[in-house]
Amino acid sequence: MLALSVVVPFVALYAVSRVRMGQYATHARIQKRLFWACIAGAIILEVQIRLAGGSGNFLPQDAVARAPFLKPLLLAHVVGAVLTYLAWALQLFKAARSTRVAGVSPGHVPAWHRPLGYFTIAGLFYTAITAVLLFVYAYVQ
Ligand code: HEM
Repeated sequence: MLALSVVVPFVALYAVSRVRMGQYATHARIQKRLFWACIAGAIILEVQIRLAGGSGNFLPQDAVARAPFLKPLLLAHVVGAVLTYLAWALQLFKAARSTRVAGVSPGHVPAWHRPLGYFTIAGLFYTAITAVLLFVYAYVQ
């Protein structure tokens, strides 16, 4: 899931570059596949955390003793990731719905599609950066 989180914002930016080329259907297809791949990854991660004994056991105790900021960092990561995925889901379902009949082309997505799209991509970068910091301080340092 860490590798996926790091790659995702760059793939989302690549999908935006397709809009600039006028390839709107490709943009939508990449976004849909990316979103569902991340949902699958998040479900697998959640199952792994449950099998390991729940979120209380997610951070190694020695790492928390060494780096007390790890717990607030985990909270900041989870809150940011949840908000990002909510915005992403809203963005995707609204765009898919409004283009289902009219077709995937400019003017057929809501006016807020562009700003919310960039907000979501910024959230994907935030999620990736905080995930890497958590991994480094919990398991490498
Ligand atoms: C089924 C899903 C989607 C469809 C059908 C779709 C369709 C479109 C269309 C037609 C445009 C051009 C809008 C215009 O020029 O007026 C556009 C632009 C854009 N979309 Fe999507 N989109 C989808 C999903 C997403 C998602 C999930 C994101 C963000 C994570 C996103 C981010 C963007 C951004 C940032 C732009 C503006 C690009 C620019 O600066 O020119 N889109 N999309």
